[in-house]
Amino acid sequence: MSNKKYVNCTFPHFLHGGDYNPEQWKDTREIWDDDMRLMREANCNEMTVGIFAWSTIEPEEGVFDFSVFDEMIGRIYENGGRVILATPSGARPRWMAEKYPEVLRVDGEGRREHFKARHNHCYTSPVYREKVRIINSKLAERYGRHPAVVAWHISNEYGGECFCPLCREAFREYLKEKFHNDINELNRAYWTTFWSHTYTDFGQIEAPSPITDTGIHGLNLDWKRFVTLQTVDFMKNEIAPIKAVCPDIPVTTNMMYEHYGLDYNRFSEIVDVASWDSYPEWHSGDQEKTAQRCAFWHDFYRSLKKRPFLLMESTPSKVNWKEFNKPKYPGMDVLSSMQAIAHGSDSVMYFQWRKSRGSSEKLHGAVVDHLGTDETREFRSVKRTGEILKKTDEIAGTETVAEAAIIYDWENMWALDDSQGYSKNKRYTETCYAYHKAFWKKGVNCDVVSPHSDLSRYKLVIAPMLYLTDEKTVSNLSCYVKSGGTLYASYTTGTVDENDLCYLKGIPGGELKNVFGIWNEESDILWPDERKSVSFGGKSYGAKDICEVVHPRGAEVLAVYGDGYYSGTPALTVNRYGKGKAYYQAFRDCGEFCIDVISRIISELGIKSNTPCGALRYGVTLHSRTDGENEYIFVENYSDAEADVPVFEAEDMLTGEIKTSVSLPAYGFAILKRKIQ
Ligand code: GLA
Ligand code: ZN
Repeated sequence: MSNKKYVNCTFPHFLHGGDYNPEQWKDTREIWDDDMRLMREANCNEMTVGIFAWSTIEPEEGVFDFSVFDEMIGRIYENGGRVILATPSGARPRWMAEKYPEVLRVDGEGRREHFKARHNHCYTSPVYREKVRIINSKLAERYGRHPAVVAWHISNEYGGECFCPLCREAFREYLKEKFHNDINELNRAYWTTFWSHTYTDFGQIEAPSPITDTGIHGLNLDWKRFVTLQTVDFMKNEIAPIKAVCPDIPVTTNMMYEHYGLDYNRFSEIVDVASWDSYPEWHSGDQEKTAQRCAFWHDFYRSLKKRPFLLMESTPSKVNWKEFNKPKYPGMDVLSSMQAIAHGSDSVMYFQWRKSRGSSEKLHGAVVDHLGTDETREFRSVKRTGEILKKTDEIAGTETVAEAAIIYDWENMWALDDSQGYSKNKRYTETCYAYHKAFWKKGVNCDVVSPHSDLSRYKLVIAPMLYLTDEKTVSNLSCYVKSGGTLYASYTTGTVDENDLCYLKGIPGGELKNVFGIWNEESDILWPDERKSVSFGGKSYGAKDICEVVHPRGAEVLAVYGDGYYSGTPALTVNRYGKGKAYYQAFRDCGEFCIDVISRIISELGIKSNTPCGALRYGVTLHSRTDGENEYIFVENYSDAEADVPVFEAEDMLTGEIKTSVSLPAYGFAILKRKIQ
């Protein structure tokens, strides 16, 4: 039985294409003709249109002109392609800002922005919401039933905060509801007696900003929660008129790595398909590090909906917004595109199809250069990716089975970053990458999930630095271990609750102290160059940044510190709780320890690896997808050197040969297929 989940069943294929702005070329129609021909030649079957087209579609208030899209959506379809249609809210027309200044954002110091750039609207403004609703309804009515449209791209890269009076008032309303209109409940939750900051009325509450109070941690956290909720609410307002016309067409919005200001775990409830924009810094030194960190985000976006995601944007070569805008060297574009597919993407899409002639993105990489032909290295590599996607099209819609997961949580990151008492830079995301690397090194599939998600499917769950554990998380983790799961947590776990209030009676807080069977008494914060040692399994490892002094309260000690005033005390413990086990790593290691320990646990738990190889060499890894009958294994080499990689016997999908090992050039890859036994 096939378990395929396509982005849209009317088009059961990989999508290959990208952002296309035909409105920039409407006066040079020969370019439109070239685009259609070049799209076929580049093996592209998708174009994302309309993202920044508001002023083309509604040049004056209430005056609509759909001619560009009437023609281009039709032409793309006739050309064999499909369209992901965007709502244009990412950038509004000038007339709107002039007539309704409330659509413009206000910064943290109270200044209303002038009309400028993009991605800077107020997400509360009733006028903006209404204007968006009108244009989205028009787009849905006009194109929602067009056979070309396979998905909706809602807005573009939502982000940022607005401090206008409307947003500030909405924030107060949010708090009133949360605290049952009881200001004392809020005072207790925010611990406002500290520094005499007690509120007597909800009207006194200001959003934390450079000119207001940023010392109330509970308030800071609620403001960030509010910004996410308000953005999601704005997005719901965008989606409603679309779903009213075409309920079956999936909606997505393009997300960006761990975009700091928005809790993307909350977006899983609202998008049908997850998508993201990936721009790794290739050729910047440690290629494995770049690839593995990018892999982490592919894993996150796949896990968000537990189904294939979309690589919405990537560049076929360089970007234009980094300090040094290096092109991708030969081979890297195809390999990095295949990396997305290996992790569960059902698309490879680029920013953008054709390079703009003017303005800030005129030198950004694109499939079609200003030259306007198929002769460039970028074009040829896109064409090659398209060929591979055609040959491997049966993989579209297949799932990724992961037996292990890493927890990643924005609320935790925000609270941790606010905390004062450790070092300034908490390195939360980096710490998550460090654990993820253990899976990468073993060629093991791994999900990246929210602390509230269903963990029962995993044999192993890693919770790095889960400093904030709300009630739901405490119970989720406890139940997971009780019913047989293996949990591996690290320093700072369970320090504060959902209001950023410290747990009383010892940490890890609440039931977690029984889950881990320890008491975490204090932490030694090390100087940047300071190292302590930890001995484990007869080997000595380095500890850096933070060493906690923990006391077993039932847990077994697996590793101890080798120096410091806490020499001989536990550095790694394990505790039996119900049918499962909970490990606690009390220190930040220099890299090797966590890879060694997690590798051991992976073997002990019999977690499936995609390689018969015990140790993969630098830069090489494997990932897999499955349709329930076949397994598709991706062998990837991100290193600058050739690699021979032993594999389970399988058919090479690009050559048809049966292989038990593959020879990969630098930046080479193979896609193998084998029947599931
Ligand atoms: C983002 C945006 C695009 C474009 C690219 C450039 O991802 O969504 O519109 O600006 O960056 O890299
Ligand atoms: Zn606002």
